[in-house]
Amino acid sequence: MRIGILGNGLMAEALGGQWVRAGHEVMIGGRSLDRAAEVAKRVGAAAGSLEEAAAYGEVVLLAVPAEVAVEVAALVPAGSTLIDCTNSIDHRDFTLAQPRTAELIAAAVPGVQVVKAFNSAADLVWSDPPAGLGVPMCGDGDLELVAELVRDLGCEPVYAGGLRRATLLEATAVLAIGIWVGGGDVRGMFPPLARAFGSVSPDQP
Ligand SMILES: NC(=O)c1ccc[n+]([C@@H]2O[C@H](COP(=O)([O-])OP(=O)(O)OC[C@H]3O[C@@H](n4cnc5c(N)ncnc54)[C@H](OP(=O)(O)O)[C@@H]3O)[C@@H](O)[C@H]2O)c1
Repeated sequence: MRIGILGNGLMAEALGGQWVRAGHEVMIGGRSLDRAAEVAKRVGAAAGSLEEAAAYGEVVLLAVPAEVAVEVAALVPAGSTLIDCTNSIDHRDFTLAQPRTAELIAAAVPGVQVVKAFNSAADLVWSDPPAGLGVPMCGDGDLELVAELVRDLGCEPVYAGGLRRATLLEATAVLAIGIWVGGGDVRGMFPPLARAFGSVSPDQP
């Protein structure tokens, strides 16, 4: 599929590179064409302006700071699917600086399907994810397009609910980042079901 990426930073490079390797046509869009072209060259993508990338394909990855997410998302035309990977972190105490970013974006771009995804791990993880890593996605409607892009990384899509739950995903990421920064380890927080509940089968509700 054709994927436009708004932003030419770490997330654009990590995810854009993976999707090029998976056979998709990717355009990296930046406010500086030179910076976008540099990243695009490294990953084998096309480069363009933010406007060009927003209009490039059926899917758009929004990979800019959360504080400008709504403004930049406004470039995305109706009919597209927008993946919002932003994390809005108040670095003073690792809380959410702007709750409900994905919903704010959706309100600003009627007719665009907004899906929160890929905000749950760092760019270094997306560059080389462990096989089967679960990737939570929150959005309304059919999420299959985004699920396919998750599988392209060798990861597993996790359906985490509608757009109203996206802010829980935003909060989960910020909570995890705060724990990591404090020297903690979040990996043991969600052990496999069998270990957590003894004989309960994963198929049981
Ligand atoms: N990196 C991670 O590990 C990670 C993980 C999960 C989620 N996220 C989230 O993903 C988003 C992108 O992160 P990143 O690490 O890729 O950031 P980054 O490396 O700092 O790149 C940010 C990009 O946003 C662009 N940008 C900044 N201000 C802009 C504006 N006013 N208008 C248009 N473009 C603007 C920058 O353009 P210039 O190059 O022109 O400055 C740059 O291309 C953030 O919301 C972050 O919270 C990051």
